[in-house]
Amino acid sequence: MVYAGIIGYPLRHSLSPVFQQAAFDHLGLAARYELWETPPESVDNKVKRLRRPRYLGANVTIPYKEVVVPLLDELEPPVRALGAVNTVVNREGRLVGYNTDTIGFMLALREEGGVDPEGQRVVLLGAGGAARAIAFALLQAGVASLTIINRTPERARRLLHSLEPGGRAGVAEQDSQEASEALARCHLLVNATSVGMKHSSSEGECPLGEEPVPPSALVYDIVYSPEVTPLLRRATEAGARVLGGLPMLIYQGAASFELWTGQKAPLNIMFKAARAALGAS
Ligand code: ATR
Repeated sequence: MVYAGIIGYPLRHSLSPVFQQAAFDHLGLAARYELWETPPESVDNKVKRLRRPRYLGANVTIPYKEVVVPLLDELEPPVRALGAVNTVVNREGRLVGYNTDTIGFMLALREEGGVDPEGQRVVLLGAGGAARAIAFALLQAGVASLTIINRTPERARRLLHSLEPGGRAGVAEQDSQEASEALARCHLLVNATSVGMKHSSSEGECPLGEEPVPPSALVYDIVYSPEVTPLLRRATEAGARVLGGLPMLIYQGAASFELWTGQKAPLNIMFKAARAALGAS
């Protein structure tokens, strides 16, 4: 038996064990995917142990995506610039760090949203870890402009400066005229905040507040539970196209799976397992 798992703290609502295990089982692999809830004082040790032959590697989530970077032996080049790892691969005792959040975000956008962001005007809501990976991926993909709006504008400005966007990105204060204009003109609106997430304090809320949804944009909400968030419901009512967060979750997981196993991930099986678990939650 070989093992993979997710390292985070706390780890209550992770769907990764459900759809990763379904993928291992579907391909008949003698592999188990585990929840590795790891308190801060044990992270070094947990990562060190991944070098043992029985480990394929791990996913890394909040709050350790940056913490694990110096603990690894090698980083895939984009990770060096981003500074955050969500996937560790054990290559014969050497730990290599990847970020499949960026891959998952882009694949979902292209495959499920049917949009190539090159040359597009984008508004990004949020300035946390998820927003950082997404902003990085969008700038790399060649967006024409990126406007970051966040409840705490100072955090958005910090994110902006760390990205070195070369003039293509800016911050707009929430509810400002600048924000309204950027929203009205955008081709793509991405919610990378946790607002609207089931079982959170903002369940049922829309991250746009009173701002109207831009009707000709693609509205992409990375919140995957519920599958139709308040933002997506409003967007559909306004006539906009919508994309939920489940494809990003599955595509990032599928990319991790392929790095660990060298086999093509069974996407349909992973989607089905995740949807069944979401329906039951
Ligand atoms: P993640 O790694 O998932 O991005 P995070 O780093 O905690 O998590 O970031 C959460 C994001 O959601 C932030 O942009 C946060 O805004 P602040 O920077 O102002 O904290 C945003 N967020 C969370 N709850 C929110 C709420 N109730 N209203 C508005 N924004 C919220």
